[in-house]
Amino acid sequence: MIKIAPSILAADMLNMGADVQRMIDAGADLLHVDIMDAHFVPNLSYSPALVKALHSRFEIPLDVHLMMDNPEKYADVFCDAGAAYLTVHAEIPADKAELLRRIRARGVKAGLSVKPGTPVEEIRQLLPLCDMVLIMTVEPGFGGQKFQSAMVDKLDKLKAWGYEGLVEMDGGLGMGNIAMLAQHGLDVAVMGTALYRSEDPEKDMRWIHSL
Ligand code: DX5
Ligand code: ZN
Repeated sequence: MIKIAPSILAADMLNMGADVQRMIDAGADLLHVDIMDAHFVPNLSYSPALVKALHSRFEIPLDVHLMMDNPEKYADVFCDAGAAYLTVHAEIPADKAELLRRIRARGVKAGLSVKPGTPVEEIRQLLPLCDMVLIMTVEPGFGGQKFQSAMVDKLDKLKAWGYEGLVEMDGGLGMGNIAMLAQHGLDVAVMGTALYRSEDPEKDMRWIHSL
């Protein structure tokens, strides 16, 4: 069964608590939280304080996606704040193996993400250290972009290599492509716009869970 991770980037920032609760009530499995630093991506978003506040209010596991140049400096802060999954990018200069090990040592699931231009071959050696691989299906930075279907090859490769962790996709997922992705074995679907703009997210999630 696909796990559904609504992305709060598409939530109403002034009604965050209610908008998170709405997705939990509708059947969300994880809550995706995008952290952007204005360097790794041309946008700024949330801070560890929001992660901490979400963790203290809700029981849903927090899937924290660090779109940052230097996540090695903040990994501990996000672990302390209550991340259940902490994902860093393959394109950063830091030692990824050391960082993934450090996240795991904190008892947090370690994730590694590839931007659309980064081949999955580049992270193959690191897969034993990854509880999750996050395949970006748009250029990271903004919600509401079009799904890049060429990225499905990366999902196929990870499954063909026998990767046993979770494979997550992020960017442009919706009711029009989720059934196809389920057939390819996708484990976690991040959905921002598709769920937050849906008239009936509960019905949508029930259908996705049935795929
Ligand atoms: C993009 C973010 C995504 C974003 C997805 O950089 O990583 O999590 O919220 O939004 P949608 O589902 O609207 O494409
Ligand atoms: Zn994300």
